[in-house]
Amino acid sequence: MTLLDVRALRTTFTTANGPVTALHDVSLHIDRGETLALVGESGSGKSVTAYSIMGLLPRRTARIAGGQALFDGTDLLALDARAMQDIRGNRIAMIFQEPMSALNPVMRIGDQIAEAIRLHRQVTRAQAAERAVGLLEQVRMPSPAARAGDYPHQLSGGMRQRAMIAIALACAPDLLIADEPTTALDVTTQAQILALLKRLQAETGMAMLLITHDLGVVAETADRAAVMYAGRIVEHGDVADLLSHPTHPYTAGLLASLAIEALPPGARLPEIPGTVPPLSAMPPGCAFAPRCAHALPRCRTEIPTLRREGGRQTACHAPLSLPVRSIPVLEEVAA
Ligand SMILES: Nc1ncnc2c1ncn2[C@@H]1O[C@H](COP(=O)(O)OP(=O)(O)O)[C@@H](O)[C@H]1O
Ligand SMILES: [Mg+2]
Repeated sequence: MTLLDVRALRTTFTTANGPVTALHDVSLHIDRGETLALVGESGSGKSVTAYSIMGLLPRRTARIAGGQALFDGTDLLALDARAMQDIRGNRIAMIFQEPMSALNPVMRIGDQIAEAIRLHRQVTRAQAAERAVGLLEQVRMPSPAARAGDYPHQLSGGMRQRAMIAIALACAPDLLIADEPTTALDVTTQAQILALLKRLQAETGMAMLLITHDLGVVAETADRAAVMYAGRIVEHGDVADLLSHPTHPYTAGLLASLAIEALPPGARLPEIPGTVPPLSAMPPGCAFAPRCAHALPRCRTEIPTLRREGGRQTACHAPLSLPVRSIPVLEEVAA
């Protein structure tokens, strides 16, 4: 059942100011066909998590200092570059916030999709070209055959995102990692792309790691969510459950901020003062304590570990309490 099982992933960077730890023992798992959301403000470590798993970190400065990323039983972190290339774009595909950074500006999009197919599959040019148009149709590109002949700059932002998704789907991946796939789009296009991803997932059965700073996106798309702060998972649970009863004050703050207004990426959250600390200036104890209205003296000295209560995991010395179990039963009796 488990497709990806990330265990105690630790990633460090060498910087001008010395070594810093970006990920502290990050663990998460994704079953076949399901969607896990990785959520948190800008700078929480979401992209570093994805890049660590995909082997896409800058080689000279980044180091995987510990952990495993078991994909169908194989540890991706232990693979050499060649073996990882066989998996990337094939069994695991990735899409990004900014499609222009992933698309080749001087190549027709039909050719880019065909190239992605031919990289991993033994097919003729003609077969790949035909399949490319089929993929554009699958991602609901308007006039797919005609659009296949376009260059990226001839497409709208939403169409470019569709083209990038078509490239990602080229080899029918088991897992799609989507890093803020709708953040750069207007609200209407955002909703269309999310609906598309959900429909494609239903059609293909692929699993998805959906990275977002937006709990609204999480509510609409994911089965489970892992909330990340300063390089650690601070809360994890089923989405409906997590969003109705957050137990970590950070999750509660993200939710309260969401209720106030749709926030642009990177905006300060009205309900949580301050921002995510830089890696070089992590406070001792809980990294969230300086911004937390519930912090106890202990929170400033002792890093909380993830504790499980039912299906929920929370790393907090002063968690918000879950509703008492008997309440739903009473409601049932009353109804
Ligand atoms: N190549 C790098 N070298 C040094 N620090 C980095 C590098 N990439 C990311 N970071 C730092 O790691 C932290 C997490 O970054 P990132 O994963 O991009 O956050 P998110 O995707 O959640 O917005 C940030 O403090 C960021 O500055
Ligand atoms: Mg990011």
